[in-house]
Amino acid sequence: MSGKLASDYGAWKHLQGIYDVERSQLVLKDLFAADPERFNKFHKEFVAASNPSNTILLDYSKNLITEPILAKLLDLAREADVEGTRDKMFAGEHINTSEDRAVLHVALRNFNDFKIAEAGVDEVAGVLAHMREFSDSVRSGAWKGYTGKTIRTVVNIGIGGSDLGPVMVTEALKPYAKRDLDFQFCSNIDGTHMAEILRLCDPETTLFIIASKTFTTQETITNAETAREWFLSKAGDKAHVAKHFVALSTNEKAVSAFGIDKANMFAFWDWVGGRYSLWSAIGLSIALCIGYDRFEEVLRGAHDMDKHFKETPLESNLPVIMAVIGIWYNDFYGSQTHALLPYDQYLHKFADYFQQGDMESNGKFITKSGKRVDYQTGPIIWGAAGTNGQHSFYQLVHQGTKLIPADFIAPTTTHNPIRNSLHHRILLSNFFAQPEALAFGKTEEQVRKELGSGASEALVKSKVFEGNRPTNSIMFPLLTPAVLGSLIALYEHKIFTQGVIWGINSFDQMGVELGKVLAKAILAQLDKPEDVKGHDSSTTGLIHYYQMYRKE
Ligand code: F6P
Repeated sequence: MSGKLASDYGAWKHLQGIYDVERSQLVLKDLFAADPERFNKFHKEFVAASNPSNTILLDYSKNLITEPILAKLLDLAREADVEGTRDKMFAGEHINTSEDRAVLHVALRNFNDFKIAEAGVDEVAGVLAHMREFSDSVRSGAWKGYTGKTIRTVVNIGIGGSDLGPVMVTEALKPYAKRDLDFQFCSNIDGTHMAEILRLCDPETTLFIIASKTFTTQETITNAETAREWFLSKAGDKAHVAKHFVALSTNEKAVSAFGIDKANMFAFWDWVGGRYSLWSAIGLSIALCIGYDRFEEVLRGAHDMDKHFKETPLESNLPVIMAVIGIWYNDFYGSQTHALLPYDQYLHKFADYFQQGDMESNGKFITKSGKRVDYQTGPIIWGAAGTNGQHSFYQLVHQGTKLIPADFIAPTTTHNPIRNSLHHRILLSNFFAQPEALAFGKTEEQVRKELGSGASEALVKSKVFEGNRPTNSIMFPLLTPAVLGSLIALYEHKIFTQGVIWGINSFDQMGVELGKVLAKAILAQLDKPEDVKGHDSSTTGLIHYYQMYRKE
């Protein structure tokens, strides 16, 4: 830890100079016209070492960069010691300094390749074997409920990282799902979420997975208690819980206090961050949905990307390239957000997933050495599956006043080639067209020509697209378990690289604590108006309004 702010680095200052002088010359139309080799120079293909059918193409040519700018951005990564910090992560050093923890989600998908010495790492294979045995048994029907029936519904109860990963991956890999097993995910403390899910469940055939790293999260524990109460109101005997409740956690004590047998607990370790935990026991619902072997393919795909990130020079390192280009917009152009736009319906939860992955990791203004940054850190992550977004927010992306860097993501081949892949060809024509339109726009001259001489000036102006809006395009042959694993790891390492450059700790989440503490204090005051104390007039007024009108 150098204690430096990113803005102290020589490369940062140099980049600021380039931005100030060259910004007006960074026009995509001109850059492409001047260099027919631009695509060749600014694209890279990742090919998984263990599986050549797992490839990912990153085209970053439609960015506001030149070769010298990219070289300087990579110098910035070197100056911030991205390579050294990456090696420390893989070696199990405690790079999560505020919590004094290693950051080892990479150890969950390592399969004895890299040497990693940390307590618990040698237990990973055992937990995976337990997951295999359990998921095989439920999927085959060998695992029976308390009346001897097979499991038909799995309800994962968890929130944040104990929910979003399983939700996103089970959606993304639906083509591989066991279709006669229904999956529900209950996260919100709003009783409506649980009530609507329980309507779909039969206690004789439902399995509840209580997923919580800490096993203290208020939402998850309350929802789990509600599920257990509902189950026991039908099943009667507490002994039946063993057939219908399993736990995924690092907290064995709390799991047994809840009444779940140790044999039905799947462990993980404090070096697995919540938002990096789908690779751990938290992925049990994924293994149940697509089968353990497919789940392992996801892990192996991620490992292949880990290898790429660990061993590839920065110039060809996909996560690093994406990270530094992101910094160029975030910190020099001042863009506030980054859009994730998958042209694959199966990835419709991808942006939601990386909202937590990125924003909980890099939404921080204090560096690891305790200084306040004087630059922007993590962007706001948002997005939706194409082409739905085109009919809602793309107007602003094309003609609004904000610069919105975006990643367009698509498979060459669909899992559902209905009507001879007509849908997919239309989908992909949009996937190709949008970045082109964003980059090159439409000039006033073109608009005038199209409209003819009678058109009003206002109409002409309103139809102009300035263009010069940057995008990455990411393509892969088919959304398989291995490709998905690599794709997720690609973004994880991008987030890591940006966090290192900004000098922040991407692996704690202090910012979610204050609201939790206040909510606990308020909960104790909700019953009587005279108990409402210690708040500002707005909060007091709102609680009083609730007390006046509630009907419970
Ligand atoms: O939102 C805060 C957080 O700690 C996340 O980082 C985590 O994914 C989530 O809560 C759930 O925590 P747990 O798995 O311990 O219930």
